[in-house]
Amino acid sequence: MRKYLTLLLAISLIALAACEQETPDTEEPPAEEEPAEEVPEPDEDEPEEAAEDPRQQQAMAAIFDLRDTLMGRVMEVATEESYEAAVHVCRDEAIPLTEEAAQRHDVELGRTSDRLRNQDNTAPDWFDELADQATEGPHFAEGPAGELRGVAPIRLAEACANCHGTEDQLADGVAEALDAHYPEDQATGYEPGDLRGFFWVEVAADQ
Ligand code: HEC
Repeated sequence: MRKYLTLLLAISLIALAACEQETPDTEEPPAEEEPAEEVPEPDEDEPEEAAEDPRQQQAMAAIFDLRDTLMGRVMEVATEESYEAAVHVCRDEAIPLTEEAAQRHDVELGRTSDRLRNQDNTAPDWFDELADQATEGPHFAEGPAGELRGVAPIRLAEACANCHGTEDQLADGVAEALDAHYPEDQATGYEPGDLRGFFWVEVAADQ
């Protein structure tokens, strides 16, 4: 039993570490790498340290929080029960957890994909304009009312293939659970490293 637990822990740590690498080539790219022309220049009289747009930081904090919250919850259930059970949990909790993360950071927030599993993850109207430039890392632009809009890529890590991989990679019972909950599912057949979708985030204009 002890051996089994140790093994389980090792597996779950590897899986979690893998999930940290959604953008394998660019590790959590800092907001300052963003093209300057798209974001408002800081006021002349602001100190050097404030050069990074605080709203970009707010946006990225929301994205990382959502990523960690969702994957933390999924891996908890996957290791304690099974990936099949985690599909059910994902279905029930992903949207509420997303809304809670949005509230925590005072932003609008979501995930989307060109191959959706959950139709509730449809992107906002403005998403397409930014997505093309966000495949390698986060991209920001300003909306018509001065809001900051951001899109960041989501790449498949090893653990994700249990529920988004090719047929032979899906964990036991996952295909059946997906059939039951998502008869229109388009989100299998991915390989680790593939672009699975995007986070999108919107921060209101400065008051
Ligand atoms: C336990 C199975 C499971 C695992 C593991 C899993 N997902 Fe999902 N994923 C789902 C389910 C179910 C949904 C639909 C519910 C939701 O999250 O809105 C979903 C939705 C998504 C979405 C939202 C777009 C859509 O198609 O609805 C993205 C993006 C996504 N997953 C990426 C990932 C990535 C990246 C990983 C690994 C870091 C991962 N998933 C791991 C089951 C899983």
